[in-house]
Amino acid sequence: MSKPRVFSGVQPTGNLHLGNYLGAIRNWVKLQADHECLYCVVDLHAITVWQEPADLTRSTREVAASLIAAGIDPAGAILFNQSKVAAHAELAWIFNCVARVGWMNRMTQFKEKAGKHRENASLGLYAYPALMAADILVYKATHVPVGEDQKQHLELTRDVAQKFNSDYGVDYFPLTEPLIYGAATRVMSLRDGSKKMSKSDPSDMSRINLIDDADTIAGKIRKARTDPEPVPVAPPASEDERAARPEAYNLMGIYAALTDKSLAEVADEFGGAPFSAFKGALTDVAVAVMGPITAEMRRLMDHPDEIDAILHQGAEDAREIAAPILREVYDIVGLLRP
Ligand code: TRP
Repeated sequence: MSKPRVFSGVQPTGNLHLGNYLGAIRNWVKLQADHECLYCVVDLHAITVWQEPADLTRSTREVAASLIAAGIDPAGAILFNQSKVAAHAELAWIFNCVARVGWMNRMTQFKEKAGKHRENASLGLYAYPALMAADILVYKATHVPVGEDQKQHLELTRDVAQKFNSDYGVDYFPLTEPLIYGAATRVMSLRDGSKKMSKSDPSDMSRINLIDDADTIAGKIRKARTDPEPVPVAPPASEDERAARPEAYNLMGIYAALTDKSLAEVADEFGGAPFSAFKGALTDVAVAVMGPITAEMRRLMDHPDEIDAILHQGAEDAREIAAPILREVYDIVGLLRP
């Protein structure tokens, strides 16, 4: 049996942070062991909203560098940026003709991103989910690791596959399974434990960026918000209990994730201690885990040719998988092959 095929994408917009690392990237790294993995920096999705060209170029390399530094192994996984493999855009067009306007109108991410001025949103933003379906199905990927916020897009991917299959009377595209990241690795803002750690938070103190050096990490953890109580002696027994001390449980959760321990073990170890002491220990593990990643990322950013060569090779490998699939789709649809 061949390994199941995984596809996932990440947008090249701004810095990756600890939340991305513990929530998503670490998962991607683990999946490499027993899956055929394609990981894609989705630059075509990024330009559905305005991107300064120079920023887009830098962010594409930066995100690729973070993934490599975090353990995506270009010798095993296929790492590339989306615009290099034209098959994504080609299949997306066909899916634009399969998906229905009514489906797109129900997409909550479109409504959020378009805001009040829907008429003024790009056509690309509206069609975003069809391109995402194409990203996945152009490789007939069966497993897609994503966050909770992408669940609706994956349901749409299944709808597209199903409608394509039934319209053309074929059993061609697989129904993709989402692999939703566990809530346990959900990292919250260091300034407000009720909000997710996010690259769009205006306060840089709210997050630990993969590019932050040890001093910056230490400073952010020292200033992280807590409450006057000591470290909890047990994991929260209910959501209410968690909500009463969101910052405390968030910092414990980060420590647990970084050390691969359970929240209960962390509570056993530090319960009752003042947060000042716990923050020292947290800084040590954060620097120990993130330090080597940051260092490798900085090294790669100083050698953009190395990053470009990896993306180039990844794109070539990706094209090789996509090409025969796209040819078959042309045959099914009745388009003359290129
Ligand atoms: N929409 C995803 C996000 O914003 C990124 C993405 C694009 C993606 N294409 C994908 C994720 C295909 C999984 C599979 O996070």
